[in-house]
Amino acid sequence: MDKIEVEGGVRLSGEVIISGAKNAALPVMAASILGPGENLISNVPQLRDISTMGKLLAHLGMGYHQENGGVILQSSDITSIEAPYDYVKTMRASVLVLGPLVARAGEAKVSLPGGCAIGARPINLHTIGLEKMGAEISLSEGYIHAKAKKLKGADIYFDIPTVTGTENLMMAATLAEGETVLENAACEPEVVDLANALISMGADIRGAGTRIVKIKGVTGLSPLNYRIIPDRIEAGTFLAAAAITEGDVGINNCEPGHIESVINKLKETGVEITHETDRLRVRGPARVNAEDIQTRPYPGFPTDMQAQFMALMTLAEGTSLITENIFENRFMHVAELKRMGADIRVEGSIAKVKGIRALKGAPVMATDLRASASLVVAGLAAKGTTIIDRVYHIDRGYESIEEKLKVLGARIRRIK
Ligand code: EPZ
Repeated sequence: MDKIEVEGGVRLSGEVIISGAKNAALPVMAASILGPGENLISNVPQLRDISTMGKLLAHLGMGYHQENGGVILQSSDITSIEAPYDYVKTMRASVLVLGPLVARAGEAKVSLPGGCAIGARPINLHTIGLEKMGAEISLSEGYIHAKAKKLKGADIYFDIPTVTGTENLMMAATLAEGETVLENAACEPEVVDLANALISMGADIRGAGTRIVKIKGVTGLSPLNYRIIPDRIEAGTFLAAAAITEGDVGINNCEPGHIESVINKLKETGVEITHETDRLRVRGPARVNAEDIQTRPYPGFPTDMQAQFMALMTLAEGTSLITENIFENRFMHVAELKRMGADIRVEGSIAKVKGIRALKGAPVMATDLRASASLVVAGLAAKGTTIIDRVYHIDRGYESIEEKLKVLGARIRRIK
C-alpha cells in the first residue's frame, strides 16, 4: 500500500491548476447512458473513481476510453442492466446508473452500496422517487431491482436534500412521460453541471441549482459533448494548504463562485483571498484566528471541506466549534490529528478544536477521502515528518496531489 511522506514547515508558493470536478464527472458519465452514440466529456480528472465508473459502464456494454484529459463513452448498445457489487462496493457513486438505466432500458439491478466510513448513507430517497415515477422496486440478495416499461412524471419531495438522489431522479425524469417536479432538491454546482449536460443532450430542465427543479420528459436524447466544471473541493483544499503554511499561492482554473462559503469563512480567520474570474490568490497569515463552522447543504459550508478546515483550526488562535450536520460519522480524522498533538474534543456532532502553537509530524492513517486530505494539510505545517498510510483513499479524489504540492515547494513524496 502506498504511503505519502510530508516534511512540514515549508511556506507554499507558486501557481496550482485545479482539475475537473470528480463529483460532476461521475453523474455526467452516467448520463451518457441516456444518449445513444459517441459521448465526449472533457476536463475529467484522472482518478480511480473515474476509471471505476468507466469500467462499470463498459460492463453495461458501453465503449469506454480515456484520452488527453477526457473520456469517450460509446453508448449505442446497452447489453446489461446490472451494476455488480464489486463495482458498487468500491464506489458508491455507481448507484448513479440506476436512474438512467431504468429510463433507457426499462430495468436496472444495482447492488446496494452498503455503508461507508462516514456513515450509513442509505439510498431510500432514490428508490422512493423512482417508485413515485411508476417503477416497481424490489430488494433481493443485496440488489435493488427497478423495473418500469415507461416512467411517468411525478411530484417528488426530498425529506433531505440529497446530491446523488437529485441527480438520479433528474436523469430518470428526462425520458419520462410528462413533467417531474423535484422539491427540496440539492443545489450543489455538480447538480447544475449535470443539468447543463442533460440540457445539451436535448433534455427540458428548469430550476437546477434551486430547491425546485422541473423536468419535462422528451422522447429521446442525443449523445453529449461536454466540459466538466472545476473541482471546488480540490480548490478549497489548496486554499487550506496555503493558509496553514503562511503561503502565497495562485489557484487557477477554479470557479470562485462555487466556494463562496469557504472563501468567506477563511477570510474571517484572517486569510487574505482575492479573486479574478477563474483564479484565486491566497496568502496565509502567521496565525489564523479560530472560527466556528456548521456543515450544510449547498450553498452552506460543504461537508467535504470540514476535515480540511479542522486541520487549519488545530493551529488557530482560540477555540473553534466544528459541527458536522450532514454525515453521522465524519470525524475519523480527529483521532489522527490528535496523534499529531492537536487538542480536539468530540461531543456528538460537534468537535471542539483548541488551537495550539505547533503540530508534530507522526505516522497517521487515512480513513476516507477528505480525512486523508486533512492529514496532508496538517502534515504540511507540522514540525518534522508525517507519514500517511492508506493513501488509496486520497487517490480517489485528488489528481496527483503530491505532484501539485511539490510544484508549490512542499517537501512531499510517495513511498511505494
Ligand atoms: C454526495 O454524496 C457526494 N458524492 C459526497 O462527496 C458529498 O459528501 C455528499 O454528496 C454531500 O455533499 C458524490 O457526489 C459522488 P447525499 P451523496 O445523498 O449524494 C442522507 C466525496 O468526498 N441520505 O447528499 O451520497 C445521507 O445519509 C463524497 O467526494 C438519505 O438518508 O450524499 C446524508 O446524511 C463523500 N437517504 C445526507 O442525506 C438517501 O436516499 C446527504 O447525503 C440519500 C441520502
